[in-house]
This record gives sequence, structure tokens and C-alpha cells, in this order.
Amino acid sequence: RRFLKTAGFVAAALVLAACGKKEEAAPAAAAASAPPPPPPAKVYVIGTDAAYAPFESQNEKGEIVGFSMDILSAVAAKGGFEIKFVNTPWEGIFNSLQQGDRDALISSITITEERKQTMDFSAPYFDAEQLIAVKETSKVAKFADLKKLKVGVQTGTTGDEVVSKLLGKTNTNVKRFESTPLALKELQSGGVDAVVADNGVVIHYVANNPADKFKTVADKTSFAPEQYGIAVKKGNTELLEKINKGLADIKADGSYDQVFAKYFGAAPAAAADAA
Ligand code: ARG
Repeated sequence: RRFLKTAGFVAAALVLAACGKKEEAAPAAAAASAPPPPPPAKVYVIGTDAAYAPFESQNEKGEIVGFSMDILSAVAAKGGFEIKFVNTPWEGIFNSLQQGDRDALISSITITEERKQTMDFSAPYFDAEQLIAVKETSKVAKFADLKKLKVGVQTGTTGDEVVSKLLGKTNTNVKRFESTPLALKELQSGGVDAVVADNGVVIHYVANNPADKFKTVADKTSFAPEQYGIAVKKGNTELLEKINKGLADIKADGSYDQVFAKYFGAAPAAAADAA
């Protein structure tokens, strides 16, 4: 009796153990024979202040488009890596890189000594300079003529820097705006007498808003040449090398010139000659 009881118990235990084994064994075997799942492809998050046509803007569908997007997309395609553009207000753009919310920034960012202290830049991918926008009837002929006027700039841009230097940083005649289009709207409504911003953006705005009756005033002697770079977090050499390699590749194979011509109508050298 005792033997039977014991035997019964052992048998039951064996069945239970076998069941447990079976359940565990099946998925383990499947995992061993199936190929390991591919690691999810890294998608680099690229921040841009998409209120800066023709470099970066949002179309009617809300897609982020422009010269900068075409350039970086070509770079990524060459380098075989994936990117995603995320609209990021200029005000917080450098902080978003610092915090790691963005892997890189492409936003017509001028490479400056000061910015180089806190982020790393790619090789330059575009030449720019400041340009003055005024009403067609304005007598402004050079930058120094703005000294006693109300001047609109986008906060924290190189335009802000140069105007703050001429008028004085705390001068209330320096009117700072969240975006360059907002500054230009204020010029239209008469709240400011002039706007100083990157030449490409000013030229594009004036050409596309003829009803505003603006004109541009260049002043080569007052404005230093600027160059745009793609920014990565300080020390992110892995991504920076990919970007720089891609930039060199698209310059060498003509795709940079193609994108340039799409937006500015001619190859960079020809455009520079014409200017
Ligand atoms: N190039 C200027 C700067 O770096 C202005 C750039 C503004 N870019 C933009 N997407 N809002 O200060």
C-alpha cells in the first residue's frame, strides 16, 4: 500500500516535471533555431527650426522640407544611416542637443567660436552673410544707418549679435523675435524699421511677399562671412564622422551641386560669381 502510494506520487511528480520541461523546452528550441531578431535600426533625431525657408520650413502637409533637409538626406543615404527631422524652436534648439533629445541639428546654424565651446560642428555646407530688409521707401543704405532705428532680429542669432553690437545689447530699439518671419511681419506692420537676418532667408521672403514692398540692403564691409555647419553633441565623433564623410561624398559626386541648383538656381561657384 505504502509502495503503491509512493509510486503513485512519484509517477505524478514525473508527469508534472515532464510537462514543465516540455513547456520550457519548446520555446527554447525555437529560439535556438530561428535567426536572432535584427536590432532596431538606429534613427538619428535631427532638430531644426523649420521657419527658415528656403533652408528649413514646413509645407502644407506639415512635412519638414528645404535645402538643409535635402542635403542631410543625401548625406544619410550615402552613409547608409537613417534620420528623422523634428521641428524644434530655435529658442531651445541648442539645449535639446545638450540634453540628448536630438542627435544633431541642421538649422542654418552659423559656426561661431562661441558655439564651438559647447557643441561640435561638421565641415561647413553653406556660405552666408547678414542682409538688411527695409521698406522700399526707406533711406537706409548701409548697416550704420540703423543705429537710431528700431531693428528686428531673431533672438540669439548672428543677426541679433551684430545688431546688439551696433545698437548696444540693452538698447530697447533692438526688437527680438522668436522667428525671423515674425520679425519680417513686424517690418510690414511698421513695428520695426529694419530686419537683419541671413541673406538667403531675407532674399527668399522679399521675393515671395511682393505685396510687402520690401527691399534688401547689402553691406559687405559691415558683415563678416558666415558658414553653416551641422551640430552634434560635443564629443559625438561617431555621428560627426558619418556626416563629414557624407558631405565630402555628396560634394564629390555632384549631388550637393544638384541640391544647391534646385534651391538657388545655379551651382555654388556660379552663384558666388553672380553675387
Ligand atoms: N545663421 C544664423 C545663426 O546661426 C541664424 C540661423 C537661424 N536658423 C533657423 N532655422 N531659425 O545664428
